[in-house]
Amino acid sequence: MSFRFLDLHHQRDDLRTDVLAGLAAHPKSIPPKYFYDESGCQLFEAICRQPEYTLTRTEHALMASRMPGIAAAIGAVDCVIEPGAGDCGKVRMLLDALRPSQLVVLDIAGRALAAAAEPLAHDHPGLAVTAIGMDFIHDLEAALPYVLAGRRLIYYPGSSIGNFSPDEAVALLKRFHRLAGSSGQLLIGFDLKKDPEHLHRAYNDAAGMTAAFNLNLLVRLNRELDADFDPTLFRHYAFYNPWHSRIEMHLVSLAEQTVTVANQRVHFDLGETLHTENSCKFRCDEFSAIAERAGWHLAGEWERDGFAVQLHGVGVNL
Ligand SMILES: C[S@@+](CC[C@H](N)C(=O)[O-])C[C@H]1O[C@@H](n2cnc3c(N)ncnc32)[C@H](O)[C@@H]1O
Repeated sequence: MSFRFLDLHHQRDDLRTDVLAGLAAHPKSIPPKYFYDESGCQLFEAICRQPEYTLTRTEHALMASRMPGIAAAIGAVDCVIEPGAGDCGKVRMLLDALRPSQLVVLDIAGRALAAAAEPLAHDHPGLAVTAIGMDFIHDLEAALPYVLAGRRLIYYPGSSIGNFSPDEAVALLKRFHRLAGSSGQLLIGFDLKKDPEHLHRAYNDAAGMTAAFNLNLLVRLNRELDADFDPTLFRHYAFYNPWHSRIEMHLVSLAEQTVTVANQRVHFDLGETLHTENSCKFRCDEFSAIAERAGWHLAGEWERDGFAVQLHGVGVNL
């Protein structure tokens, strides 16, 4: 078995800098990548099991039912690269179908990633697994020296691309394009536009897992930035914004209050929100146009129950 873990987190004070900049902005916001401390990773997995959150189960069912056609469209691949792999639960099916010689998984939650990725090396003899703890928004290119030469497939499931605005998505997909190389491909899953009521239920599950995930961000800031947020004075607030075709997640202040974060005082008005995440929803043609702007050409598309997976090949050289 071949497994290695690399921690490529740079010694920067990103959390402090990003959080203070976000809290000084109008409206206040914090990048969603900071959800994923140890509890945040566990809460995300719990969200995926909620009856209202159908996205993960639908993507799994789509991949399971269409895998022969997807694998045939992809063809022979030497290396699969998955940014934001999390619990590495989705890539197993692809490994079984494609049998690449290398898997490279990247995640900001490095320790959880390493624990999830090592069993993949046990279960797939002949597969070299490289797990890299990194913030791929900052450092994607730092993964390149650890990727074998040959035909590469970037796998980006879970509609994580929806966390970015369309322009940000184009910029990220251009970087995926460069990482994939001249014979590379991209297999990407994204949530489709649908009845806002369905979306509203998905992000407001009855068991309160999405609320706990959102509020856990404040607990993290209390622990890591010596902040004094009272999580009972904030409420999870998620709604569909039809003008931007996205679910927005916020934490709304239930009182006028002043909070200390990393020695800075931050004022919240009653009802003011801290914007924590967007989850954009697409039509298939809208998404393929975004990928096209990043130099990818649509090579295959599979759809089921409001979720889509597209395969793209390298188009123009960037
Ligand atoms: C919504 S979860 C999706 C997990 C998995 N890919 C799936 O489809 O179920 C997002 C994952 O991306 C990781 N992540 C978010 N932002 C990241 C960043 N900037 N760099 C590296 N990993 C990131 C999180 O830690 C988390 O594991």
